[in-house]
Amino acid sequence: MSSSSRRTVVRGGLVVTASDETCADVLIEDGRIAALAASGTPAAESFTADQVLDATGKYVVPGGVDAHTHMEMPFGGTYASDTFETGTRAAAWGGTTTIVDFAVQTRGGSLREGLDAWHAKAEGVCAVDYGFHMIVSDVHEETLKEMDLLVAEGVTSFKQFMAYPGVFYSDDGQILRAMQRAAGNGGLIMMHAENGIAIDVLVQQALARGETAPRFHGEVRKALLEAEATHRAIRLAQVAGAPLYVVHVSATEAVAELARARDEGLPVFGETCPQYLFLSTDHLAEPDFEGAKYVCSTPLRPREHQAALWRGLRTDDLQVVSTDHCPFCFTGQKELGRDDFSKIPNGLPGVEHRMDLLHQAVVDGHIGRRRWIELACAAPARMFGLYGRKGTIAPGADADLVIYDPHAEQVLSAATHHMNVDYSAYEGKRITGRVETVLSRGEPVITERRYTGRPGHGVYLPRSTCQYLN
Ligand code: URP
Ligand code: ZN
Ligand code: ZN
Ligand code: ZN
Repeated sequence: MSSSSRRTVVRGGLVVTASDETCADVLIEDGRIAALAASGTPAAESFTADQVLDATGKYVVPGGVDAHTHMEMPFGGTYASDTFETGTRAAAWGGTTTIVDFAVQTRGGSLREGLDAWHAKAEGVCAVDYGFHMIVSDVHEETLKEMDLLVAEGVTSFKQFMAYPGVFYSDDGQILRAMQRAAGNGGLIMMHAENGIAIDVLVQQALARGETAPRFHGEVRKALLEAEATHRAIRLAQVAGAPLYVVHVSATEAVAELARARDEGLPVFGETCPQYLFLSTDHLAEPDFEGAKYVCSTPLRPREHQAALWRGLRTDDLQVVSTDHCPFCFTGQKELGRDDFSKIPNGLPGVEHRMDLLHQAVVDGHIGRRRWIELACAAPARMFGLYGRKGTIAPGADADLVIYDPHAEQVLSAATHHMNVDYSAYEGKRITGRVETVLSRGEPVITERRYTGRPGHGVYLPRSTCQYLN
């Protein structure tokens, strides 16, 4: 009998999903949720199992779904420092049991080559389950045909970039063509919405003035240029008749564009990330090049933008919180841009801390408990065709569960985190709440704060199309 065919009962916890909160016992069989019953009732007492996990006084929540990670992503002449092995282990520590990472089409290469390369990186080493989006950086006739094939095999979302000219950038014509294709094949276009052509002009002008420090990264990547690109992406999608998901939204003005489009009834969705909710340009301005730790795109914004992001998360003008986990070590990687902010590899570590930071948002009163689970589990699963299997606690779903202690106190630090990166963007931040135990398809990957998983437990997840649209 494999360990996943054992029966496990999680007893006495407050089961929190996006829709309900109930004191219930959860019966797990063959890696799936078999039944739930109100704790203390005869139905719950009748659950028999080989293993009983006591969740009294704790929450039992679905495993997190992080729909935006970049393990081993090539950027700026280096690679994101977490492999699929280290990054998925860190995800598990933080209560995330599914990641959707971005396979990359290199310029001149096919989607298939890029996807095969990402399968090779991930296969046999992941601690938790994983799927892929596809970064489309070279739109031509063959690419468009390949998009259909990828949707059919479970890679149902495609990221395009209005930023990074010469690297991942697509022009408006390429974007429109990919959107038209997605309108036909059911794919979802994910947009990095920043006007990269205008930003590059401002970068060159800043460098010419001798403005080389990390904080200038934030100054040239203007909120208005995020909003302008967001508006353009929305209208291009409208012309194509395609849905749109805007990634890593950070500016008040960009949220306003999304809200307006949604009020018009357009199938437009938005994601933000913990770094935009908890960090700001104050971090980018830290002296002695320390600000480089906070260089990502879209950039951190002045603190005033956070209110609009929280409001968008409450009003559903933003639907998903992902991490955009793309770690680069300070030593040897961020340092590549010591004399020129434009050479600092873009990205922040965070895959381990999303569930905790959003629980802190519950404690702080920004969102409610069920909205926490909606934003971190249910909505990303629905958005990317995993719901039912992932993102909830219900009979038939994978037994991806977190026993979460809402009262435990912890302090985030590079000294104690599990991501393969030499700093924490949240060094010293106090969090109320902590992951205690994590099950992935019924198997304990974290057991009372010990890692009990293994590389290769995680399986590849082919996905259906966006479940908000059907
Ligand atoms: O700075 C970031 N966000 N790095 C990762 C690549 C991207 O644009 O998502
Ligand atoms: Zn991006
Ligand atoms: Zn609205
Ligand atoms: Zn990203």
